[in-house]
Amino acid sequence: MRLDRKDLLTIKDLSLDEIGLILDTAASFKEVSEKDIKKVPTLRGRTIINLFYEPSTRTRTSFEIAAKRMSSDAINISLAASSVKKGETLSDTARNLEAMRPDCIVVRHGSAGTPQMLARHLSCSVVNAGDGAHEHPTQALLDLFTVKEHKKHIKDLKIAIIGDITHSRVARSNIYAFTKLGARVTAAGPRTMLPPGLSSLGCEVTTDPREAIKNADVVMMLRIQSERQNNSAIPSAREYARVYGLDKEKLSLAAKDAIVMHPGPINRGVEITPEVADGTKSLILEQVTNGVAVRMAVFYLLLGPVREED
Ligand code: CP
Repeated sequence: MRLDRKDLLTIKDLSLDEIGLILDTAASFKEVSEKDIKKVPTLRGRTIINLFYEPSTRTRTSFEIAAKRMSSDAINISLAASSVKKGETLSDTARNLEAMRPDCIVVRHGSAGTPQMLARHLSCSVVNAGDGAHEHPTQALLDLFTVKEHKKHIKDLKIAIIGDITHSRVARSNIYAFTKLGARVTAAGPRTMLPPGLSSLGCEVTTDPREAIKNADVVMMLRIQSERQNNSAIPSAREYARVYGLDKEKLSLAAKDAIVMHPGPINRGVEITPEVADGTKSLILEQVTNGVAVRMAVFYLLLGPVREED
């Protein structure tokens, strides 16, 4: 079984069937990570390059672990150690990497649209590991997977996404993903962190976090992306934490069996209190665990097992 596409660039472009296939495949790959010997020969002979122009802990590491658990060769290139520092352009870097015949390049870049541009010019597969404030499709897939594991379905769930929506590629991909699967998404944040036209993505929008959290089945908190803001969009972190941060009192408004999520990295005491981040409703580390299974599924469905004729 394969996806009928060369690249994975956005959630917006994925059909319901494709999302279903990725989530089902991830469920079978999750078992690999629970075994003593965490390796299958499925992608032996394939070469995967992680090309990260922005910092990453979870995404880069889990793509590398996913590639290695499937026996492919995984190579990591970070901005600091590459010839980008000597002035090489992105397209020259990509063409030189392609000359070494990889099967897939996983790219994270600060500019929206970079993975799409590479995918048009490269014959190998391209996977978007986050492009500017545009999309982070594998994060949304692992978030869907995590919610589905706990709630068994996505349709009709109430999902609250709270924080810096304007600068969050995670928010954008998750709004596409959860609304596509029939959930009711409410995005909340200060006015300065809510982009114009947000409701056209199919979600409710409010500046009141309590309205978003009330009866929510899933409360997803976001980090303030200060690296993407020219001027601070909030008066102070303390004020933001008081009004928008998730603490026990605000969480008590959610459904009794609500779950708490965060893509990481978290800023403890700003968008979420340590008590909630480490509490019994928090699935933050489960999201990280599931990231490996989902990325194994993406590699498998794009690159497939090596066949004699390949
Ligand atoms: N969730 C996420 O993208 O984390 P990293 O920036 O550490 O990859």
